[in-house]
Amino acid sequence: MHYSKGLLWVISGPMFAGKTSELIRLYDRTTYANQKSIIVKPMLDNRYSNTDVSTHDNRTRKSYVLLNIEELNEVVGLEKPDNVFIDEAQFFNSKVLNVIDDLRKESINVYVSVLNQTSEGHPFPFMDKKADVGTLLAKADYINTFTAICPICGKFATKTFKIEATGHEVDVGGSNKYEPRCFEHWEPKK
Ligand code: TMP
Ligand code: MG
Repeated sequence: MHYSKGLLWVISGPMFAGKTSELIRLYDRTTYANQKSIIVKPMLDNRYSNTDVSTHDNRTRKSYVLLNIEELNEVVGLEKPDNVFIDEAQFFNSKVLNVIDDLRKESINVYVSVLNQTSEGHPFPFMDKKADVGTLLAKADYINTFTAICPICGKFATKTFKIEATGHEVDVGGSNKYEPRCFEHWEPKK
């Protein structure tokens, strides 16, 4: 598969599907080709590390931790990367959509990992609620949708189930709070 420069590649799916692992794989792939790549993530995602992107099993890569997506422009100005990797894109404002468009216009490839749905089954809204990740997926050149495995039946899980309903749409956590589920065994609230 060959894409011109300025591609938008989105990695989507429920929790525990390997989205960040895939982002790291794609990042490593570019570095083996001697391309300059940077990884960024939102400060909100402090689950496993304040500096690195991290998978649930603690595989990490150094990243820029951004309070706002606008800070990415400054980082890109300094680093002049060929590729920008964004983890947990749902935890930025909808301005992330414009920032990505601008990077692409500068022929920078953008790879994005995103949680596609809330535990309630809605397209994940960006933090300012002005758009949701559906727009990001619609803009993508290429989408990899990953599944997890439902612990109830062993079938493919496309949903994320919240173990204790808290009423908060944004609730950072891991297996202490969430489980992957197939459509049949998923329910929005316990
Ligand atoms: P992950 O997709 O890399 O596992 O991370 C998803 C993050 O999103 C994790 O911190 C939990 C959080 N989250 C919410 O805030 N609300 C939700 O409805 C769901 C399903 C996850
Ligand atoms: Mg992740």
